[in-house]
Amino acid sequence: MNGSIVLFGPPGAGKGTQASRMSKLTGKPQVSTGDMLRAAVAADTNLGREAKGYMEAGLLVPDEVIIGLISERLQQPDAESGLLLDGYPRTIIQAESLDEIESVSVVVSIEVPDDAIVQRIVGRRMDPETGKIYHIEFNPPPAEIADRVVQRKDDNEETVRSRLLAYHEQTAPLANWYGERGVLLRINGNQGIEEVGDSIESALLELSGKDA
Ligand code: AP5
Repeated sequence: MNGSIVLFGPPGAGKGTQASRMSKLTGKPQVSTGDMLRAAVAADTNLGREAKGYMEAGLLVPDEVIIGLISERLQQPDAESGLLLDGYPRTIIQAESLDEIESVSVVVSIEVPDDAIVQRIVGRRMDPETGKIYHIEFNPPPAEIADRVVQRKDDNEETVRSRLLAYHEQTAPLANWYGERGVLLRINGNQGIEEVGDSIESALLELSGKDA
C-alpha cells in the first residue's frame, strides 16, 4: 500500500494499542504525535515547554507547532514508503497541510462511543520500559511489571472531558473530509482488543487485494 496510513479516532479509542500490529502488517513505522510531544515535555525542550500546558489542559497543541514536527519526520529515510500516523492529523488545517506533502492511502477510523472512552482512559497504564499500553481491567499488566506501570498525567476524568470536547469540535469533522476523498475506513472499536485488530487487519488486507 503506497503512501501513509492515518489512525484516527477519539482519545482512548485504541489507536496506540492497535498501532504495533498494524505497523508489523504494513511495514510502515508508527509515528505518534502524542508520544513525540510527551518525549519533548520529558526532555524539557522548547517544543515541550510550548506543548505542556495545552496537553495538561486537554487542548490541542497549535497547528503550526505540530505541522512542523510531522513535516520534518516525513523527510527521514524510513518515511519513503509512508508512515503509520497515530494521532495526526487532528484538524482540517493539519489534513490540508499533510495533503500537500504526502499521499494518504487509508484513514482507519476506530469508532468508540464517548461513554466507553472515560473508562478506558482512566484505567490506562503504561510500562515506561517498553512503552506498552495496558488497562487495569481490560488488559492488565503482568504481575512482574505491575509495580512499575505508570499513569499519564492527562489520564484523569476532568482532562478526558476536555479532550473529548476538542475531539468533537476540531477532529471529528475530519471523518467527513476524508470520507469525501474516498479513503475513510470505519472500524467498530467497541469490541475486544483482538477483535478490533482482526477487523482492521482483514479490512486492510482486502484493500490491498490480498486474501483476508
Ligand atoms: P495522544 O497521546 O495522541 O492522545 P489521544 O488522542 O487522546 O489518544 P490516546 O493516546 O489517549 O488514546 P489511544 O487511541 O491511543 O488509546 P490507547 O490505545 O492508549 O495526544 C495527547 C495530547 O497531545 C493531546 O491531547 C494534544 O494535546 C496533543 N496532541 C497530540 N497529537 C496532536 C495533534 N495532531 N494536534 C494537536 N495536538 C496534538 O487505549 C486506551 C486504553 O484503552 C488503554 O488502557 C487500552 O489498554 C484500552 N483499550 C484499547 N482498546 C481497547 C478495547 N478494544 N477494549 C477495551 N480496552 C481497550
